[in-house]
Amino acid sequence: MKTTGSIAELRDWLAALPRPIGFVPTMGALHAGHMALVQRARAECATVVASLFVNPLQFGLNEDLAKYPRDLVGDRERFANAGVDVLFAPDEAVMYPPGFSTTVDTGAIGTKYEGAVRPTHFSGVTTVVAKLLTIVAPDILYVGQKDAQQTAVLRRMVTDLGFPVAVEIVETQREADELALSSRNAYLTPEQRAAAPSLHRALETLRDAVASGAKKNDAVVRARAALDPLGAPDYLDIVDADTFEPIDSVRAPAFVIGAVRFGTTRLLDNLWIRK
Ligand code: PAF
Repeated sequence: MKTTGSIAELRDWLAALPRPIGFVPTMGALHAGHMALVQRARAECATVVASLFVNPLQFGLNEDLAKYPRDLVGDRERFANAGVDVLFAPDEAVMYPPGFSTTVDTGAIGTKYEGAVRPTHFSGVTTVVAKLLTIVAPDILYVGQKDAQQTAVLRRMVTDLGFPVAVEIVETQREADELALSSRNAYLTPEQRAAAPSLHRALETLRDAVASGAKKNDAVVRARAALDPLGAPDYLDIVDADTFEPIDSVRAPAFVIGAVRFGTTRLLDNLWIRK
């Protein structure tokens, strides 16, 4: 696997590599969920490019960028073992040189749910991914279902700005007890870890209740009851998968979404209702 932090060098290498190019953007701290994105890209593309960049623009003022786990050596090895051809790992000065001031904002879709809790988060994500897409010029962008709202925001951006790239959503990877894989799981105490799979059960309860005719408000009450008492829900809802507008049925395409705090750790999960 070749690694570079230089945009010019990356472009030179990619010009000589076969298409289609599959691209997996990451912020490192890799787990099996990221590896599923790489495996899918490897299976579908002649060339696989990954990026590793801890993007300061998507961290809020009260979120500790300095504490974000970094393990470039370990992550490089994981990418190489998974068959990545080229890793782009730029410094902040390469991505955001002095004078950088342009941002990408997808509007309403990024202002609710996660966007309401983290107001600058999605414009940080879209700005960095727009720049990465311009640099890498991939044919297929691979993103994880786990961050459902991010998938919707990025698909909106790709459509609105006309990026010539297909967006593929890769299913969430789970522990044996259905807890969605996340780097945040490491912060759970043993009691919280035991309680955390109840988020997935709550989402299933919400989906099943609405599918069998319950009003959404009543279904949300049942879903909250399915949560372990250690979990404090921020929201449990059903949304259109493209717009992230709330909907009252489980018609496809939709996400049944939830964000729940276990102590100081805030976990996200969703069920994808596909066509
Ligand atoms: O999902 C992530 O890890 C990040 O939001 C992404 C897409 C790599 C942009 O920094």
